[in-house]
Amino acid sequence: MNTHKLEMNAEQIVLRSFSEANLEKSRKWANTKLLHPLILRSSFVSNEEHRMWYQNLLVDPSKIVFAIHEKSSDIYIGNTGFYNYSCEHKRAEFWILIGEPEFWGKGFGFSTLRLMLQYGFQELSLNKICILVSVKNSPAIRLYQRCGFFTEGILRKHYYIKNEYIDVYSMSLLRVEYNELD
Ligand SMILES: CC(C)(COP(=O)(O)OP(=O)(O)OC[C@H]1O[C@@H](n2cnc3c(N)ncnc32)[C@H](O)[C@@H]1OP(=O)(O)O)[C@@H](O)C(=O)NCCC(=O)NCCS
Repeated sequence: MNTHKLEMNAEQIVLRSFSEANLEKSRKWANTKLLHPLILRSSFVSNEEHRMWYQNLLVDPSKIVFAIHEKSSDIYIGNTGFYNYSCEHKRAEFWILIGEPEFWGKGFGFSTLRLMLQYGFQELSLNKICILVSVKNSPAIRLYQRCGFFTEGILRKHYYIKNEYIDVYSMSLLRVEYNELD
């Protein structure tokens, strides 16, 4: 059973454990073609597949997903989480999707990532948080660099999306580096 049920607060945002109430909007975002090269996916998600993904979340401890809410209005603006959380190796892969473009570039990604770093390193006792990001996704790369992530290398033509192979950066932040941040 996935026991990561909680709520976390920052100045601008609230993160709540992903719930059934988030399914409809999150499927809409997953099926927004504009987002596909950014979130590194290409296939359409049916309602049934999306519900199966959610059922799996409830029982798979390696996946931890939160809904991002803008704090003052409580509007649900996106999702974030860790995939491939490994207790053994003390590492996990971070991901984020702010689904509503009007909320981009306003600091919500930064607040979310800072909160997730705190949760990952302090609550989950991770040693390493990893990210794969398209080399063309400048806002995301900027965000990760700003939060101290190190570029480990390029995975060449790692994804095939919209008839195009996409190179991705493998980026990571270690606990020791996180502890040295302001
Ligand atoms: C990528 C994403 C998470 C960034 O979150 P955000 O709330 O838009 O970004 P923030 O406002 O917190 O800004 C973070 C940094 O990115 C920069 N940034 C934001 N929008 C930008 C843009 N369009 N172009 C270049 N840089 C941009 C900001 O300037 C800031 O850097 P700075 O502090 O040096 O100025 C968000 O835009 C998003 O979810 N996009 C769609 C899905 C996606 O790309 N997910 C990531 C997959 S790896």
